[in-house]
Amino acid sequence: MAPYGPGAPPPGGPGAPYPGGPGAPYPPGRPVRIPWIARTRAELRAALANAPHPIGFVPTMGALHAGHASLIARARAENPAVVISIFVNPTQFNERADFDKYPRTEAADLALAGAIGADVAFIPSVEEIYPAGFQTSVHVGGLTEPLEGAARPGHFDGVTTGVAILLGLVRADRAYFGQKDAQQLLVVRRMALDLGIGTEIVGCPIVREPDGLALSSRNTLLTPEQRAAAPVLRRALLAARGLWEGGERNGESLRAAMLGTLLKEPLATVDYVSCADPSTLQELTAISGPALLSMAVRFGSVRLIDNEPLA
Ligand code: PAF
Repeated sequence: MAPYGPGAPPPGGPGAPYPGGPGAPYPPGRPVRIPWIARTRAELRAALANAPHPIGFVPTMGALHAGHASLIARARAENPAVVISIFVNPTQFNERADFDKYPRTEAADLALAGAIGADVAFIPSVEEIYPAGFQTSVHVGGLTEPLEGAARPGHFDGVTTGVAILLGLVRADRAYFGQKDAQQLLVVRRMALDLGIGTEIVGCPIVREPDGLALSSRNTLLTPEQRAAAPVLRRALLAARGLWEGGERNGESLRAAMLGTLLKEPLATVDYVSCADPSTLQELTAISGPALLSMAVRFGSVRLIDNEPLA
């Protein structure tokens, strides 16, 4: 069955009344397993014209996996209308090559999102999000400086600018983000608060492979050897967690435990390990409350991140 799209008016049309209830197709007559595709701002407005509230929104860059599926399922369970976006946001990539090689799997993404119950998929072009003459940038201060911000200059400005545009267009009541990108979650939450964006930012747990590797669209770029080595991130986090559970409260000892585990894996190149305050992301020496363990590690040209909250 052909998905909705330009030139294929959705059954029921944008003006059709919504029958209501989680899982009900929006608009009426939409094949339940295929989201209504909007590729332009105008098509998105039409798709949302009669959508019931609360609207749940899951912004993604596509290449959907079980981690995204868990976000969509949570949005589905909590809202009568669910919107996802698939947009590989060029402004948050530091290297053009990384942007170019980012996996693009639109047909599979739509099948997965539709099966879980996404009603609308917003799939804009770069020009639709950043039209000619675009001059605006959203910058969040201190929280973006350490960790990913230090390793990837400008990355968070790209994220916050892109997410601010998406939140402004979708005007969702709730937006769902994975805890795997813990710093991104904090930064987006800060931005939404500071700018008075009326969307609740909901953080959702990390989903892992059975061997502990956190799900990420980048995992598909690993060679079989790198994939076999990648669970070392989880082992490093668990080594530090084990010390903490045994009463260790020195941040440097936990960082050393993570680094020691990672250095045993010859395919891994460590970008950083961190044991930080989970609300400011400042490195901790003495741990007197909750803490966030995090790391970024490269396998060849593929960079993976992971984290573990201690509370
Ligand atoms: O986490 C991501 O996939 C992206 O950073 C996001 C939130 C979709 C913004 O482009």
